[in-house]
Amino acid sequence: MEYRYILCETPAPGVGLVRFNRPQALNALNPRLIAESFAALADFDADEEIGCLIVTGNDRAFAAGADIKEMAERNAIEMMTADDITDWGAFEQLRKPVIAAVSGWALGGGCEYAMMCDFIVASETARFGQPEITLGIMPGAGGTQRLPRAIGSRLALEVMLANRHLKAPQALQLGLVNHVFPVETYLAETIALAGKIAAMPRIAVQLIKDAVRKTGQMSLPDGLDYEKKNFYLSFDTEDKREGMAAFIEKRPPQWRNR
Ligand code: CAA
Repeated sequence: MEYRYILCETPAPGVGLVRFNRPQALNALNPRLIAESFAALADFDADEEIGCLIVTGNDRAFAAGADIKEMAERNAIEMMTADDITDWGAFEQLRKPVIAAVSGWALGGGCEYAMMCDFIVASETARFGQPEITLGIMPGAGGTQRLPRAIGSRLALEVMLANRHLKAPQALQLGLVNHVFPVETYLAETIALAGKIAAMPRIAVQLIKDAVRKTGQMSLPDGLDYEKKNFYLSFDTEDKREGMAAFIEKRPPQWRNR
């Protein structure tokens, strides 16, 4: 696939980075950009050299939402026929961790894209919001589901009903983002963190991500049962033998990702 709206790079060993690249439209998410970003993420996910993925925009905007100019002429039947939102489900298939590095605007679909990621690192200028109500519509790519789970339904409703924006410090306080860094360093810090994760034994990384993602789908007893099975499975890897041997022999482990 030839990419028109994204850039891809590997900024550090084991790290695959996808950058939204429609700066003149504040990275508004059109279906092609979404498809390109998912294709690039799937490629990194399948790449044995890569252990952790990053999605980012630019300093001014992660993404200012779905492309309003494209949606303006569409009616309900056209929206249902195109069914672009179902395509967003492809993101759930990614097995490796994905970090959103967010600076500036993360609105509407941009906020929803960031929330789909496993966690978010923000710059001090990051602003999160779900302004769809100001367009006479509602969030459609997970805002009504993921935002209440992240920050509680009362505040999430105010964000969606009153177009309240959450600035970086409050997003940090609420646990919506894991870190806030100056705009000059947030991406380097995200790459360093992704590099740290990429250097961990990859099968264990994926088993942990897989189990944590089940928390929203299972009761606690079912989740504990699921975790237990992943835990037992991790005992059959070469990295388990290496990790425990290295601890006992007081030396750093040499991971083989097997
Ligand atoms: N779609 C299409 N174009 C967009 C856009 C969007 N979501 N957001 C910004 N742009 C374009 C603007 O039209 C403008 O283009 P022109 O120069 O050609 O006019 C360019 O990006 C720069 O934007 P502004 O001049 O508006 O920049 P600003 O700094 O004055 O304002 C902003 C920034 C507050 C983010 C403002 O652009 C804005 O409100 N954008 C729309 C945000 C929004 O409503 N997002 C929700 C979309 S619906 C959705 O996402 C549905 C869903 O759940 C999937």
